[in-house]
Amino acid sequence: MTDKPKVAWIGLGKMGEHMAGHLLSAGFPVTVYNRTVEKAAPLVEKGATAADSIAAAADGADVIISMISDDNALRAVASTTDGVLSAAAPGSIYIDMSTVSPEASAEIASNADKAGVAYLRAPVNGTVVQAESGALIILVSGPRATFDTCTPVFEAMGSKLFYFGDAEQARSMKLAINMMVGITASMFSEAVVFAKAAGLDWDQAIDVIGQSAVGSPYTNFRGPALKAMDFTPTFSTKQIAKDFDLALATAETTGAPMPLTSLVRQFWSDMIDTGKGDLDFLSYAQHLDEQRSK
Ligand SMILES: NC(=O)c1ccc[n+]([C@@H]2O[C@H](COP(=O)([O-])OP(=O)(O)OC[C@H]3O[C@@H](n4cnc5c(N)ncnc54)[C@H](OP(=O)(O)O)[C@@H]3O)[C@@H](O)[C@H]2O)c1
Repeated sequence: MTDKPKVAWIGLGKMGEHMAGHLLSAGFPVTVYNRTVEKAAPLVEKGATAADSIAAAADGADVIISMISDDNALRAVASTTDGVLSAAAPGSIYIDMSTVSPEASAEIASNADKAGVAYLRAPVNGTVVQAESGALIILVSGPRATFDTCTPVFEAMGSKLFYFGDAEQARSMKLAINMMVGITASMFSEAVVFAKAAGLDWDQAIDVIGQSAVGSPYTNFRGPALKAMDFTPTFSTKQIAKDFDLALATAETTGAPMPLTSLVRQFWSDMIDTGKGDLDFLSYAQHLDEQRSK
């Protein structure tokens, strides 16, 4: 494979648009496909070639990357008759960077094997801001040699790169992190609403939590949005609920106890039921604030 392999990029949502943009900036030739075709326009302006189907995007690509919603999207994009694994040339590489279940990913691994395509799982930690600045943390599993070949591709999009093993390990690692992200957001919300109810200043409480023993990259990064009650979705409540569901389903098969994850999953349902499904999941603070009885 050359220094700058030809990349086909599928999925130009909140994350994918920025990630594909970094590959273009780094000099990779990139062909893009998005189900909603208009979303390809900003990338075409930056030098990408637009394709009108997955097959057209994959044609001649050395590396095909998808960044799409969920298990259903992965199955539709990868394993249908007009999907990636029908179109990819034997010997090419398929990388999926979405957050999906180990189970769906294992199905894709089996189909990739039959198609003679090397398959990497590479979900990411970080949100739209890190995607935009090229500072994602990229969690990878799959064949080690393929990972080594693709390191320059990952380095164009992320600031930290971890390799976990040759199968679905990265999928579970990603879900473990998102369990903590969601539980942290719900605890952060509950604590600041508690402080406000006791007469403390909202902004000061958020600042002090950030500087305390429990301050973390998450509380500091999201503190400004919480101060402003700006819940423009970087990651929506529906999306975090999806990840909790994936983690809970995985735990059913592995036997891991999930008391906190099960509890906090119900918070996301309450929010979805009361119209906050498309807001950032940190709007849990607003949800609790609205429920204060005094
Ligand atoms: N946002 C974050 O902060 C964040 C952080 C880390 C990981 N993630 C994960 O990264 C993935 C993408 O997230 P995102 O925030 O970029 O999502 P998003 O903005 O909702 O974009 C989803 C993308 O998937 C495409 N898609 C969905 N279903 C499809 C299907 N059946 N066939 C073809 N394309 C389909 C969408 O196409 P259309 O444009 O046509 O709808 C869009 O390009 C998700 O798995 C998410 O959990 C997100």
